[in-house]
Amino acid sequence: MKPKVLVTREVFDDVLDYLAKHFEVSSNQADQPLSAQELAAKLADKAGALTVLTDRIDAALLERCPQLKAVCNIAVGYNNIDLDACRAHGVMATNTPGVLDDATADFTWALILATARRLTEAEAWLRAGQWHGWKLKQFLGRDVFGATLGIVGMGRIGQSVAKRAHGFDMKILYYNRKPVSADIEQACRARYVSLDELLAQSDIVTLHTPYSDATHHLIGAKELAKMKPSALLIHAARGGVLDDLALIAALKEQRIAGAGLDVYEGEPKLNPEFLTFKNVVLAPHIASSTERTRHRMAMLAAENLVAALTAGRPPNLLNP
Ligand code: GLV
Repeated sequence: MKPKVLVTREVFDDVLDYLAKHFEVSSNQADQPLSAQELAAKLADKAGALTVLTDRIDAALLERCPQLKAVCNIAVGYNNIDLDACRAHGVMATNTPGVLDDATADFTWALILATARRLTEAEAWLRAGQWHGWKLKQFLGRDVFGATLGIVGMGRIGQSVAKRAHGFDMKILYYNRKPVSADIEQACRARYVSLDELLAQSDIVTLHTPYSDATHHLIGAKELAKMKPSALLIHAARGGVLDDLALIAALKEQRIAGAGLDVYEGEPKLNPEFLTFKNVVLAPHIASSTERTRHRMAMLAAENLVAALTAGRPPNLLNP
């Protein structure tokens, strides 16, 4: 008998076909988000799960799923999974590192450019029929070319963002828990500085750390106060790394010039005050969302699940 697995949200058909070669698959192709209760009920008799970042995998859930051996997240971030609880219940957890760096870095650049050049604000204005002629001072934005970029979190995605900045002839600063190797610094042409120095010097600050207890509100009121009034904040990491309320206060008081956001605290219910700012570009957590990348993420998660339940050691195991 094939092991039973659950796919908690809609995935691509060929990913389901691949899983079906190895497992008896139940899948939520209707794509309705599952409540904690529904998830526990559906997982009660399953050996494995292909999950997404909105599925909370914690001790309370695992206690109700005695047969569960593997949870394979379709995301590089895994703050939705309690790794200690997984360890205690003998459940392997995996993520999808590496396959989404380029798409996420590309999108970070979309946010940088759209925010600096006021693209969404200008487009909304044009669509509303308000464009009645060219003006010298229309939608004056900020230069990206030659500006100073501050990258907070110099993992694979931060590095990919840095490399794209070379085409804009930027000065690149970075802050990380510890400096990256000299080789990486050289390839990225980035200089390690303290977080305070990065915030004080950068024209554009972009966040790329994972979310954890250690990075909760890494950027809050105190940090925002150190940014230049002309600076922009870009956030495509994970809700909670930034204190959203502190950002709203800083924007209201015009202590920074604007923000480009893809992630929020309490997604998908972002703070409605964000909608009131013209100088904020808002996206619905889509940084990795290209056809190829989301497909690679889902397939990698499926490969992890197959390895976990057949060979025993998935390639992207988080809790060995
Ligand atoms: C997306 O947010 C991811 O963590 O992969």
